[in-house]
Amino acid sequence: MTFPAFILLPSLKLFYKYYLKHLKCFICLLATIGVSSTACIYVDTRIYGSNDLVVAPWNNLLYNMSVSNLSKHGLHPRYTHILINIPQLIGPASICLMPYIKNDFKGWFTKLPNLSICSALIMLSIFPHQELRFLIPIVPFICMQLPNIHSRWFFKLWMVFNTILFIIMGVFHEAGIIDTLVSQRYFAQKNINVHIWWKTYSPPTWMYMNKNLTVSTTNFINDTERIDNIDFDIDVNHVIDLKGCDTELANDTITEFFNRNPETIITLLYPASVQTKVLEILNRTDINYTSKYYTPAHLDLDHFDIDDTSTFMPGFNVIDISYI
Ligand SMILES: *[C@@H]1O[C@H](CO)[C@@H](O)[C@H](O)[C@H]1NC(C)=O
Ligand SMILES: *[C@@H]1O[C@H](CO)[C@@H](O)[C@H](O)[C@H]1NC(C)=O
Ligand SMILES: *[C@@H]1O[C@H](CO)[C@@H](O)[C@H](O)[C@H]1NC(C)=O
Repeated sequence: MTFPAFILLPSLKLFYKYYLKHLKCFICLLATIGVSSTACIYVDTRIYGSNDLVVAPWNNLLYNMSVSNLSKHGLHPRYTHILINIPQLIGPASICLMPYIKNDFKGWFTKLPNLSICSALIMLSIFPHQELRFLIPIVPFICMQLPNIHSRWFFKLWMVFNTILFIIMGVFHEAGIIDTLVSQRYFAQKNINVHIWWKTYSPPTWMYMNKNLTVSTTNFINDTERIDNIDFDIDVNHVIDLKGCDTELANDTITEFFNRNPETIITLLYPASVQTKVLEILNRTDINYTSKYYTPAHLDLDHFDIDDTSTFMPGFNVIDISYI
């Protein structure tokens, strides 16, 4: 969906340099755009059985223009893409985005790949929801510039940056999720009990390969996270994704399950970084728990708390909780 942001400025240049002098080609372009858009709108309108025309890109734009919609996904300052996401994505190659260093302002801006980079950064920075992944198509444009950098130091730095980021993001970040699903052989079980995932990215529930699996998660009413949609009577083949909800809601979920099904065993899966919070929940006399699995190979970057150094612990835990 972000594609138009990447081609807006390059298409203006294309229009002035080419189509303005070749109006027949421009009419031909408009005609083909018209035909394919009409086909897409027709198919979407039929599929959704709507009485109005369904123009998906337009609906998408309307959705993304509403700050209250975007707040469901997270709001970021407008400088997030430029000051935080770009350095994370390309590290030392960010220098390619500073044409004044080469004193070639005009030459830099007239190249199509650079126009595309500017176009995307400007357009995507307008929206207050700014995820790093939206900028991924910029990477090849940046790499096209690398041969212009004639510095051995730069390439050493570039290798170090990529090696470190590869190890953090490619090997350890959220890695315990897959590790646990595979090593606990959850995918090979006919029936599982209640699995509560807390403070992890969405578990890939398809890996359970369980046709009877119920997957529940939290809902929001007036910006308050709630557990209205969880059916506490289902105590087999039930996976609950509590996402990053607070300790109170996690405690309520566990308590409610035991209220309805005292015999049930709840498996809680969580990163070691929130061990303190889990121990708070387990600190009651009517609950018994045993550790089922631990792997140190999991890096949770989302729950650091300067006041509690245990939140910097890598690792992933699985415990079974029962009610006494
Ligand atoms: C799923 O549940 C149905 C009925 O509840 C049962 O007949 C069936 O065997 C179950 N399938 C699996 C794969 O466990
Ligand atoms: C969890 O809920 C139980 C039952 O409502 C309550 O007694 C306990 O204090 C709660 N624990 C935490 C950490 O909030
Ligand atoms: C707690 O759980 C362990 C392991 O499942 C079990 O051996 C022990 O008897 C339980 N303790 C109580 C008080 O139920």
